[in-house]
Amino acid sequence: MKNITVIGSGTMGNGIAHVFAQTGYDVTLVDISKEALDRGLKTIAKNLDRQVAKGSLTEADKTATLARINPVTDLAAGVTHADLVVEAATENVDLKLKIFRDMDAAAPAHCILASNTSSISITRIAAVTKRPEQVIGMHFMNPVPVMKLVEVIRGYNTTDAITGTIMDLSKKLGKVPVEVNDYPGFVANKILMPMINEAIITLHEGTAGVEEIDTVMKLGMAHPMGPLRLADFIGLDVCLYILRVLQEGFGNPKYAPCPLLVNMVQAGHLGDKTGKGFYEYTDPKNLVVAERFRKKELIG
Ligand code: CAA
Repeated sequence: MKNITVIGSGTMGNGIAHVFAQTGYDVTLVDISKEALDRGLKTIAKNLDRQVAKGSLTEADKTATLARINPVTDLAAGVTHADLVVEAATENVDLKLKIFRDMDAAAPAHCILASNTSSISITRIAAVTKRPEQVIGMHFMNPVPVMKLVEVIRGYNTTDAITGTIMDLSKKLGKVPVEVNDYPGFVANKILMPMINEAIITLHEGTAGVEEIDTVMKLGMAHPMGPLRLADFIGLDVCLYILRVLQEGFGNPKYAPCPLLVNMVQAGHLGDKTGKGFYEYTDPKNLVVAERFRKKELIG
């Protein structure tokens, strides 16, 4: 395992490229435009700078890490020499199926095809390739350089050998891999999303306000972020999408998204990425509850 290709240079893709390159792998980073790649590389440089400032990385290691990342805009050219591809494109089924078909056609026969999907079935993705036994989920958590977990998802046909290779590789990255089977939401989101949804229901019912709900979970359960702050961080559209996957996949009404979440997504209040969600993000140093949720009588 020497050459790693990462598809997508957004939040997850640039984080994944960052950890592979920092561990010493040659990384090809693929995205559709030079602008997207430049943004991804800039973020990696900024996050490496944080590590240098904290003394956990030397300036020389930072330069070497960046030099190991080769940005390209052509997917087929980007996977030709890959031993492993980690796909971290937008969470859209049709897009992912197309990428896997194209990668399967262009990557060498031994290459493992992994997806960082948070909720799309690995078995479904694997089925569009001619190597379903070599397709696997490698689900990193955001922010990738910080979070220790990699959820390793076995598709229906993924072999023991491929699973073992990805478990070992994740450990080499300094991560803690956990092997799970391929069912809706896997483990992380099957448990996390109902908790976030329940927090939104609690707000919607008027039991408590945004800060109160988040404080209960931060100080009472030692979560680093409250569930509403975390929902903004993940993206409310992503949370809604995953809840729909759970609802459809299990056919159980307990996964039905709170109507408040649906409304917020329809209104374009998606959290950090749009500057507004349960909180407002005009000043990154000063977290303020969104105006709508400051008027408590309107909540319930
Ligand atoms: N790259 C590199 N380092 C980073 C970073 C990044 N993107 N973001 C933060 N850091 C580092 C900081 O430099 C800092 O380092 P030190 O400990 O050495 O000082 C450390 O991480 C903590 O960061 P901050 O001091 O800036 O802020 P914080 O203490 O509030 O921590 C946080 C920020 C790490 C994001 C923390 O709030 C946290 O763990 N939140 C929960 C995140 C979470 O639950 N992620 C999972 C989301 S779900 C998901 O990803 C999967 C899905 O499918 C939806």
